[in-house]
Amino acid sequence: MVRERLSAKPFMKWAGGKTQLLGAFERRFPPGLGRGPITRYIEPFVGGGAVFFSVARRCRPCESFLFDINEELILVYTVVKRDVENLIDQLALLESAFLPLDAEGRGLFYYGVRGLLNRTRPEIDFSRYSDSWTQRAAQLLFLNRTCYNGLFRVNRRGDFNVPFGRYKRPRILDADNLRAVSRLLEHTEVSSGDFTACEPLVDERTFVYIDPPYRPLNETSRFTSYSRSRFDDQDQIRLAEFCRVLDRKGAKVMISNSDPKNEDPGNDFFDELYAGFTIERVPARRAINCRGKGRGPLNELIITNYSHRAGAKQD
Ligand SMILES: C[S@@+](CC[C@H](N)C(=O)[O-])C[C@H]1O[C@@H](n2cnc3c(N)ncnc32)[C@H](O)[C@@H]1O
Repeated sequence: MVRERLSAKPFMKWAGGKTQLLGAFERRFPPGLGRGPITRYIEPFVGGGAVFFSVARRCRPCESFLFDINEELILVYTVVKRDVENLIDQLALLESAFLPLDAEGRGLFYYGVRGLLNRTRPEIDFSRYSDSWTQRAAQLLFLNRTCYNGLFRVNRRGDFNVPFGRYKRPRILDADNLRAVSRLLEHTEVSSGDFTACEPLVDERTFVYIDPPYRPLNETSRFTSYSRSRFDDQDQIRLAEFCRVLDRKGAKVMISNSDPKNEDPGNDFFDELYAGFTIERVPARRAINCRGKGRGPLNELIITNYSHRAGAKQD
């Protein structure tokens, strides 16, 4: 188990992935994570889970609870947890059929899998695990590795609509990592739902890391289509109120978001929402919502309801 805990890493590309900000987050993890008194980790917007895997490396014993509103994403996590060997077999079949094809054949294959995924969605009951989830998880992982930029985007009908990515040698199957993740997830509950669903699990032993969809820097940089529902300013306000509920329950809470001051130095949206919390700005590069050359550096907001030792100088 120790080896799995140390080696497991994100297995899906996900917009807003936090790998490049991990150091800044790790320096701000609450004191006592892993060495007590914090023994529970909750991530209500898990996405690709970069922070979850980092916490899992240091928090022992730690029970974890992961949530996301995206049912397809949670379906994949659930299958990795419950049926990893069949998932590996099915992904290996897709990989071995796809890789030998020429560029045109690969494109046709990709759109064939995408069409099948969308056509079969009405047959899937996302609220009840079944064997049919495994094939779907393999299709989703295949598309995630071969689509344009590893995006997950759906249209209004809920159809996955990302175009083919044209990578020369996409890494479709990493069986060792999937097995390591599967072992790690044995001690983890994974559920789909709105972020508020985690509330009954939160107590004073809990660390909650919150990474909502970015508040767009401007209208052209909007990327909020992880699911059919948008995450707008009303949701950001609802989330800030929820963080105050978690604070009153005694949990340690860390929130990250894009900094609106990148675009408009006078914009105090988050400073006002999270007044009384510790608010820091750390430098970030951003793959999605990126800005044109020659513009200033982008900051990311890191907000905590506790104090920690990290100084801005380290970032
Ligand atoms: C910025 S991403 C998280 C990225 C993640 N931290 C990572 O490293 O990959 C935001 C996630 O929030 C999810 N989401 C959007 N609205 C939500 C809601 N109301 N409740 C829970 N999750 C939501 C999206 O599906 C998406 O996966």
